Amino acid sequence: MVIKIIISIVSILLFFAIIHVLLKFIKHKSLIPLVPFKYDFRRRRITFAKTLNLLSERNAKIIVETGTSREGLKNTKGDGGATIVFGKWAQQNDAKLYSVDISKASVLGSQEEIDKQGLNDVVSIILNDSIKFLSTFNEPIDLLYLDSYDYSRIDKEIQSKSQEHHLQEFKVIENKLHKNSIVLIDDCKLPGGGKGKLVVEYMVKKNWEILIDAYQILLIKKGSLP
Ligand SMILES: C[S@@+](CC[C@H](N)C(=O)[O-])C[C@H]1O[C@@H](n2cnc3c(N)ncnc32)[C@H](O)[C@@H]1O
Repeated sequence: MVIKIIISIVSILLFFAIIHVLLKFIKHKSLIPLVPFKYDFRRRRITFAKTLNLLSERNAKIIVETGTSREGLKNTKGDGGATIVFGKWAQQNDAKLYSVDISKASVLGSQEEIDKQGLNDVVSIILNDSIKFLSTFNEPIDLLYLDSYDYSRIDKEIQSKSQEHHLQEFKVIENKLHKNSIVLIDDCKLPGGGKGKLVVEYMVKKNWEILIDAYQILLIKKGSLP
């Protein structure tokens, strides 16, 4: 009798353990083969994957990111790890990535992973305010990724400052975008409209089309390559 009870308990525990592992596996969103399976890109996987496809289809050569991967690949679920994702793509496709950040600590954190991944030939991390950097950037941009001024879920003042900052980033660089440029904006589906609220409103008025409206918003120009 006691043995029967023990077997029943063990079976139930085993059942729940298997369900738990299965659910974890289903929820895991990787970007293999570009990045090893263990890294989970969760809510950004859909937009990263589509952006990577577009980069290849459009033969992109210059990528610019505002706000660098301060934790390298350690926080792909939280921050995204875009510097490494796009850096790896750039390395395989003869392209170049510029990633600008105002924080020395973020630059050092990102640079550490760039060194580890052997991406120094294709990725340049720049310590500067993104708006200052973008105002002097002088090459046509194929992918612009906006993810700098940290957003807040609760503080309305930070929300507006972040939204205004991302709008200004776009405005100072928009003349370096061409008809097949791609723009991706992070942290959008958040209370108050997220980082992209003002910039997306502005872009839509200027003939940009939203391709994916998710946690990140992906835009291309109307009438550009499909
Ligand atoms: C969310 S993190 C960027 C994450 C990164 N894009 C990724 O995918 O892992 C935001 C970064 O923006 C930087 N930042 C904040 N204000 C900035 C500004 N005015 N100019 C440039 N970078 C800024 C912060 O220092 C921080 O490192």
